[in-house]
Amino acid sequence: MLIRLCQHSFHIYDLLIFSGALTLIVYILLPHRFALRYDYIDRKHMEESLLAETTTNVSRTQLSADDCSYKEVIDGSSFVYDAFHREKIHRGEEIRLGGEYQPEECRARYSTAVIVPYRDRQEQLAAFLSYMHNYLRQQLIHYRIFVVEQSDRKPFNRAMLFNIGAKIAASYGYPCLILHDVDLMPLNSGQIYACSALPRHMSSALDSWRFHLPYRTLFGGVVAISTAQFNMINGMSNLYHGWGGEDDDFYERLKVVGVEICRFDPAYSEYTMLKHKHEIPNENRLSLLRSASLRIHKDGLNSLEYKELERRMHSLFTHILVET
Ligand code: BGC
Ligand code: MN
Repeated sequence: MLIRLCQHSFHIYDLLIFSGALTLIVYILLPHRFALRYDYIDRKHMEESLLAETTTNVSRTQLSADDCSYKEVIDGSSFVYDAFHREKIHRGEEIRLGGEYQPEECRARYSTAVIVPYRDRQEQLAAFLSYMHNYLRQQLIHYRIFVVEQSDRKPFNRAMLFNIGAKIAASYGYPCLILHDVDLMPLNSGQIYACSALPRHMSSALDSWRFHLPYRTLFGGVVAISTAQFNMINGMSNLYHGWGGEDDDFYERLKVVGVEICRFDPAYSEYTMLKHKHEIPNENRLSLLRSASLRIHKDGLNSLEYKELERRMHSLFTHILVET
């Protein structure tokens, strides 16, 4: 009897090990079996989803030129994160002081402010700037890179730096904001750096998550949002000091005003993340997040307080140094 029982439990134990091992093998070999499904805009509908709007100087200076065409940029999307695009800046003389570019051969239909919150990541910033200027110019858009640096030693306040960058970008007339981590690089040339009618989560297929989206409401990493929509939700919260939660809060704000988000086809949304040491999570983030919808009208652009210590035009970016 005892022997029989042992044999029986041995079978169940065996089965558990076997199915566990099988799951692991499937997980490693066929990651897409576990991928979260989400809605996305397919290639054919990408261009029509974009908001064609530029700063006034683009529309004024190139009255005679034809509008740029984006069909080839989108249809010809390919992997471009290679040594050629990464290692040095090509035709650097095309880039204006302050890190601005607009194509000469045609009139850009999109003007985008790329806003990068920053502190203590010199090597990553250098890699970001050279790759992104090569990457962005092939898209035939008008853009400018703003780096907003937190000078003080308080915990890093990513969302507040975005608010500051957004306010300054708006003062230069940019109708579209791309809120961008310095350690993320797009891999596919066709992820157009322009805003869509709905705010767009651009980095939905990240290599460090095996190109999967960990949860459907993730709205961090790289997002595009029109300046008008950003203003409508009072920007982001200023209260998240340290890592995590501020992007979820941002998503909650959009939910409160009933604005959905969108994504492009995952084949256009692949990003790589540069390695860095683990950031310390903000212990308050979950309790803050619970009150996100209540704070939208009093915590954000309208309560933003900071000191601008310096604004300097570098050859590859506009540097805004602030005390938070
Ligand atoms: C955090 C977010 C972060 C996400 C992915 C969440 O738990 O709240 O801020 O972007 O994880 O790392
Ligand atoms: Mn990171």
